[in-house]
Parts: sequence; C-alpha cells; structure tokens
Amino acid sequence: VKNQKKLVVANWKMNPAGPGEARKIFSAVRRVSGLLKRTKVVVCPPAVYSSLFKIDRKNKKLALGVQNIFGQLSGPFTGEIGVQMAKNVGAEFAIVGHSERRVLGETDAVIAQKAAMAVEWGLNAIVCIGEKSRDQNGDYFGFLKTEIQSALSLVKKKFLGQVIVAYEPIWAIGKSFKDAMQPREVHEMAIFIKKVLSDSFGKEWIHGVAILYGGSVNYENAGLIVKDGQIDGLLVGRESLSPEGFKEILKAVDAV
Ligand code: 13P
Repeated sequence: VKNQKKLVVANWKMNPAGPGEARKIFSAVRRVSGLLKRTKVVVCPPAVYSSLFKIDRKNKKLALGVQNIFGQLSGPFTGEIGVQMAKNVGAEFAIVGHSERRVLGETDAVIAQKAAMAVEWGLNAIVCIGEKSRDQNGDYFGFLKTEIQSALSLVKKKFLGQVIVAYEPIWAIGKSFKDAMQPREVHEMAIFIKKVLSDSFGKEWIHGVAILYGGSVNYENAGLIVKDGQIDGLLVGRESLSPEGFKEILKAVDAV
C-alpha cells in the first residue's frame, strides 16, 4: 500500500442509521477525493451498506473497506462476513482488531487469523493496535510489542506490503480533539512500531508497511500529526461522518 500517497481511512463504525444518509456522506467523500493529489481515501461503512457504493477500480483516490472480516472463508458462522464477500462487493481494505471489537471479546489469536486471511485473499489489512492507558514504567511498550507481533504472527513476509498498522491509543479515541496525541509523540510511536516490525520480520521486509494514527483526529490536528508525526496517514472515526469536517481533514493531509 505504501507509496508516495497518504492514506486516510474513514471508519464509520455503527453509523449512519439508514442508506440515504450513508449515500449522502459517501457522495461528499467521492467529490472531495477527486480534488486530492497525494492522498487516498478508504471508506469503511457498515457492511450492510457496502454494495451501495460502486467504485471505479481505476480510481486510485478512493477505495472501499470493511470494518471487520471473519477468519474462515465460509460456512456455518451466523452473522459473520467472509473475506471473499467483502472482495466481491468491491472492498480492497479490511480493518482488523479494532479496539472496539477487542472489548467485545476478539482475542489476539482471532485477530491473527483475520489478518492472515485478509492479506492472503488480496485485501489490505488495517491492523489496529493501541494501549488502554499509559504507565510511568513504560510497560505499554511491551504490551504494544506483543499486540503487533501477535496480530502479524500468521502473516507471511511476502504479504507485508498489504499490511497497514493503525496505532490507536484507546485513551485517545472518542475524546476531545485536544486529547489526541501530539505529533511528536506520534512520531516516537511510529519509530517504535517500525523497530518492532523490523526486529520481527527483518528490515528489508517492512518498507511496504504503512503506519497510521487514529484517535480524536479533526481538521485542526490532522495535517500536523501526519507531517510532524512522519506517518503515512490517519484512521478517522467521528469526523469521517461529517462531510465538512472530513473534507477539511483530507485537504490538510493532502497539503502535507
Ligand atoms: P475517533 O476519531 O472518533 O476518536 O475514533 C477513532 C477510531 O476509533 C477510528 O477507528
């Protein structure tokens, strides 16, 4: 995934309530995406809306993603969505292991399976990691290292170019925009994540892994987090549902 382009992923979570509103938000994103030069937008709507949106595969500025996939291909798994289904409605990306799914009981082992399944079937896996809180001893570094290594434990090296690590500290999600991480701190975390990746896979393998930040991003902090954080893009929650707010985020990132 990683190239000269920045990546901004819209995680709509369990919103909006109906297809009319979903279409409206998506159309607004599509319009803005046409103006972007260096940024690709990935919209991850609830899966029931996925097939409402037709995306021209030649359009390199806009892509579709799903918020979750299952770790098995098909079968008696009530309520789950398989990777082939996601692909066949046009998804190119899948969010894997979001903290909001982890609190619902998704384990490291399940997440590892999902990440491997996604990349082997040709999707780009947006693998989410993030600590619940921070401690003075830096134990959260150990926690994050384990999360990264475990989530990617079944991914073969040759698929690493389809892996995106989204660092979303749980304490910064759904907060005020002032509570988002500062760009310099984001930069430090990006270095740490790269170090863990290179220790696990070898330096020569990890160039293609994009790193995103998520957690209370808005138009005011988006540009600086990407620029001074020296990361590849953002994973945006609430503001991705606001056509105006999201447009400003995209413009800010594209100007970096
Ligand atoms: P907010 O942008 O609403 O804080 O959500 C972040 C997030 O969880 C994106 O996946």
